[in-house]
Amino acid sequence: MALNWTALDDSTPTPLDAGDNILDTGAALTSRSMSVGGGINSGLGPLEMGADRVRAEDKRIINCHADVNQLVPLRYDWAWRKYQEGCANHWMPQEINMAADIALWRDPVGLSSDERQIVERSLGFFSTADSMVANNLVLAVYRHITNPECRQYILRQAFEEAIHTHAYQYCIESLDMDQSAVFNMYREVPSVAAKAAWALDYTKELSDPNFCTGTPQADQTLLRNLVAFYAVLEGIFFYCGFSQILALGRRNKMAGVAQQFLYILRDESMHLNFGMDVINQIKRENPQLWTPDFQREVVAMIVEGTQLEVDYARDTMPRGVLGMNAASMEEYLHFIANRRLSQLELPQRFKAQNPYPWLSEMLDNRKLENFFETRVKDYRVGGALYS
Ligand SMILES: [Fe+2]
Ligand SMILES: [Fe+2]
Repeated sequence: MALNWTALDDSTPTPLDAGDNILDTGAALTSRSMSVGGGINSGLGPLEMGADRVRAEDKRIINCHADVNQLVPLRYDWAWRKYQEGCANHWMPQEINMAADIALWRDPVGLSSDERQIVERSLGFFSTADSMVANNLVLAVYRHITNPECRQYILRQAFEEAIHTHAYQYCIESLDMDQSAVFNMYREVPSVAAKAAWALDYTKELSDPNFCTGTPQADQTLLRNLVAFYAVLEGIFFYCGFSQILALGRRNKMAGVAQQFLYILRDESMHLNFGMDVINQIKRENPQLWTPDFQREVVAMIVEGTQLEVDYARDTMPRGVLGMNAASMEEYLHFIANRRLSQLELPQRFKAQNPYPWLSEMLDNRKLENFFETRVKDYRVGGALYS
């Protein structure tokens, strides 16, 4: 049973519930006097004059009662570092030259019909997927994360998702595609819709304004959402499309679109790592949530998500294209799913090797800087202000 923190604004000690797993009882008692609004530590509750000052050890990722309006003292340096790195990697879609892509797209024999379909499907899926990620973050997840340094990163991520949606829109507009057809793909093309619908299922409960963490059941609902959006949507659903576009770029086709995707992918790998760190930290602070049953459920979610991405691969690659085919993509996706399972400290599920070693090389950030000989380093100069 959860404690009713709204009632804990006096100095009367209240017994801690075993299920709350407060690691440091002293810290918990101190932090209880912090102001909390409406059962959620939103940061928008009334001020409590003279409340105890925040200590780093009072901080928790979820169900924390320390004041979330005070960034310092930091507890989770990894979250603050990721925020700084995200800012150092700032970029805008208009800075990428799309002239060669426009000429190639207009050339009736510039691309094969399979290659054209890959570009259209990728833009169709991603143009709405990143909006869904942003909406989930802002409208469902943010208020339940009760740690200011994590919130700081989430705000940065939300802005990056806006840039990503902008980048896809910029590609669609530059190529003079039928915008309505592309943006409606997530509810008109079954293999795209299946992925979007799967993720949306995991945000329903959380986006209910009455949803509140603080019980094991509700906390698991939040964890499920984090697994669905970070590990599966951003960690698996992006990988077939990204690989296909990068395979085009590698052949110097649609190099502008591929470059946009590379910048996006650099941001996404940070989002993914942040999400995994958040999930693992919640697990450490609340081990009672990570039951064998719940672990099985998480594995099933990853397996199910992987299968949806395999279906998408089959739909977008009915034949071999760009040195890839649905079978090799399936192996790649199994390889990626194993990595997600390992990141969540769960046993690997698939027998798979990486069939696309060139892709791993491209995804290596140091090589990424040189791949298109772009201005990535210029942003790094701005980022040096932080170091
Ligand atoms: Fe994104
Ligand atoms: Fe993302």
